[in-house]
Amino acid sequence: MKLKTDSHPTPAIGETHVRFFTESERNSIPSARSIPEAEWSAKPNSTLLLHSHNLLCVGLGDPAKLSRQTLRSAVGTAIRTLQKSGRAKAALDLRAYSKWTRAAAEGALLAEYSFQDFKKTKASAIASVRFIVKARDLPVARKKALHGEVAGIAANIARQVGNQPGNLLYPETLAAECRRIARREKLGITILDEKQLQRDGFGGLLAVGLGSKRPPRLIILRHNGGRPADPPIALVGKAVTFDTGGISIKSADKMDEMIFDKCGGMAVLGAMAGIARLNVKRNVVGIIASAENMPSATAYRPGDIVKTYDGTFIEVINTDAEGRMVLADAISYARTACKSRAIIDLATLTGACVVALGDYAAGLWSTSESLQAALLAASEKTGERLWPLPLYDEYTDQIRSDVAALKNAGGRPGGACTAAAFLKAFAGDTPWAHLDIAPVANITKPRSDLSRGATGFGTRILIELVENWRA
Ligand code: BES
Ligand code: MN
Ligand code: ZN
Repeated sequence: MKLKTDSHPTPAIGETHVRFFTESERNSIPSARSIPEAEWSAKPNSTLLLHSHNLLCVGLGDPAKLSRQTLRSAVGTAIRTLQKSGRAKAALDLRAYSKWTRAAAEGALLAEYSFQDFKKTKASAIASVRFIVKARDLPVARKKALHGEVAGIAANIARQVGNQPGNLLYPETLAAECRRIARREKLGITILDEKQLQRDGFGGLLAVGLGSKRPPRLIILRHNGGRPADPPIALVGKAVTFDTGGISIKSADKMDEMIFDKCGGMAVLGAMAGIARLNVKRNVVGIIASAENMPSATAYRPGDIVKTYDGTFIEVINTDAEGRMVLADAISYARTACKSRAIIDLATLTGACVVALGDYAAGLWSTSESLQAALLAASEKTGERLWPLPLYDEYTDQIRSDVAALKNAGGRPGGACTAAAFLKAFAGDTPWAHLDIAPVANITKPRSDLSRGATGFGTRILIELVENWRA
């Protein structure tokens, strides 16, 4: 999709005109009198295609509730509606919304993508999208559009790799894919294979990988946009390419969705690509911990005691609590080997987080008020919802082991919080935040503005966070 921004209000030949209407503007649509309210009321993401006027109307809903996200989503709805009706070119009237051009561009890019690698008939592509803004807003709006385009592309990278099935994408092939992307985006990359992981004592990541024929990988991406001596911001992601639960095996119901158990790592991958494209003036390290969690004669078992990268002993209670095992190593590595100034991890960590929040937000835990505030501010901008949850000492008590420092499962009560408390132990004194994206990493039903599958959740928050980093 070619995206451009100019100030020519009249649609060119072949372009479908798109206009956005709040509920109070509803009556200003052409032929409003002949179209009953019941047919089109300008509710958010409702559409009305007026063939006679070559016009697509998209609803914005209540004007009092209008936000960046309303527009992002409405633009997305417009793109998907045009795609379905086979219209390849569009001119979107954003004259009233130029301050949100970045969100509009994100919405367009996010809506354009769907996972089609294995479909015989491909969806019709959108060739060009033109944003119309007022002449005086043009210079700023162009920059914003470019910015939004990069953020959208970054999220789509996360989605495209995230959507790959477990038979094709496993730690080695993920590492190879990261290498390709790193070369293209001019990121530094180091990949640790199982021998190097053994040499350096990555006991958590190795334990999870034991049951699989496909050995784990630690993938380290680097963007050096800051001064050489500046410690990096670490973005850490869980990338379990398929989670069967291991010996503590999951039930068959929805197990297919466990191909999305790599989406924390994918958000890190996408964000690193976006950060490189924007040439952000910060040092950033992306650490992706990848393993496949399988049951087999060589798998790790409940009752095992595992030594992590930082020397902590963990009693394995449940092999399905594998995310925190791989993250224990990755977070420790970020703290000690990378000497990071802050650590933000993303993971599809717990079903308990889905129970707590439904499909509507990711959980947020942090040991730093300023980091938490920065993440909430970023989340507000990108429309990817985060909801803060506690790190009481009692959660840590719940995961104390009789035979080791910690156990990897603390029972049902507060399951998402005990998982967070477990990770906290590996961040030490380094400011740290954890995003449990299990609720939002993938969607099973397409939305008007987003196709089914991996959502790329977190990618844009991370880009926004790093761009606006202060101190
Ligand atoms: N990947 C899962 C979490 C998950 C569940 C993500 C459902 C998306 C949807 C994670 O590895 C897991 O299995 N967690 C366990 C932890 C428990 C054994 C302490 C869980 O949530 O049941
Ligand atoms: Mn699991
Ligand atoms: Zn998992």
